[in-house]
Amino acid sequence: MDKVRVGIIGCGGRSYAHVNKLVDFEDVEIVAVADPIEERRLKMAEKTDAKRIYKDHKELYDNEATDAIDVVYISVEPTAHDGIEEGAIEKGWHFAVEKPMTLDIDQAENIAKEARDKKIITWVGFQDRYLDIVDALREELPKHKTGLVYGSWIGGIPMLWWWLKKSTCGGQLVEQNIHLLDMLRYLYGEPKSVYATASTGIVEGVEGYDTDDHSTAVIRFKNSVTATLVSGCYLTKENPGSHNGLLITCDDMIIDYKLRDSVTFSTRSEVRKLKTTQDHHYVANRTFIDAVKSKDASKVRSPYEDALKTLKLGFAANESMETGQVITL
Ligand SMILES: NC(=O)c1ccc[n+]([C@@H]2O[C@H](COP(=O)([O-])OP(=O)(O)OC[C@H]3O[C@@H](n4cnc5c(N)ncnc54)[C@H](O)[C@@H]3O)[C@@H](O)[C@H]2O)c1
Repeated sequence: MDKVRVGIIGCGGRSYAHVNKLVDFEDVEIVAVADPIEERRLKMAEKTDAKRIYKDHKELYDNEATDAIDVVYISVEPTAHDGIEEGAIEKGWHFAVEKPMTLDIDQAENIAKEARDKKIITWVGFQDRYLDIVDALREELPKHKTGLVYGSWIGGIPMLWWWLKKSTCGGQLVEQNIHLLDMLRYLYGEPKSVYATASTGIVEGVEGYDTDDHSTAVIRFKNSVTATLVSGCYLTKENPGSHNGLLITCDDMIIDYKLRDSVTFSTRSEVRKLKTTQDHHYVANRTFIDAVKSKDASKVRSPYEDALKTLKLGFAANESMETGQVITL
């Protein structure tokens, strides 16, 4: 395969994180774009030089031959995954899809199975797994014993219509702090239980908003690590921001991972700080395209099937928020 032919499904904000990298890859050609919003699909076509422009994924699938596209990039709202991945699998197209991949776990289970059966190469947008500082963190952790981990993602509200409602975004933990949920799994393996609480009442005057203002999830991992992960979306522009990332307390070391920025390893005798020097969106996209070209799915760090485990953890936390029960996984 000289050039990987790509179709873009969803031309909103997030799609550009991928497209901005793909347009510079000499071995990638973006051949088709789709979005129900005309202005967005035309802007994307201009940016990518794509000649085939469609009003949605269905029109793209109806008009594109199976051998005209190798890969689709899917960046749509969490509730808009209406047969998009299933259609790509049927065509035999590999796909990259944004997290959370859907709010319907049965659908996600089915997609994971179908993709596995048809040997489709998949990548879910947990790009933080490609950070150099996360590699350093993963190298350091086995040298110490971790007890407690404190994680946080506290910020404001992304002003997207679908983000404002829990029914269309899944809540902040599932939509946004899923990155740290996934990071915890990447560092510590599989969880055995989760307990979570959520509150509202701080955010006022945002029309249509009904999701949680903040939540706390206590996750126990099979290897005895316990993580407390807090999420908040109530900060106003006046707030200078808070520590987002993970604070990892080991027996003989404190590790401070500042989200997408740096990691600091501290003991009484040494403090070692590493700042990321890497464009992780570049590395993540390059890796996916290389995986497709070499037909080597093992290169991808967050394939659909693995990402599904993170999604299930987020859903279990939501269930705990609703029922007040500890959810065993
Ligand atoms: N990995 C990350 O760091 C990251 C960051 C931001 C957003 N995201 C995720 O990316 C996804 C998209 O977010 P966004 O900010 O781009 O949202 P957005 O609302 O800006 O864009 C979504 C686009 O999808 C289009 N769309 C909906 N149904 C479609 C269909 N059937 N065919 C073609 N296009 C369709 C919409 O018209 C819209 O333009 C969400 O799941 C979000 O959680 C991931």
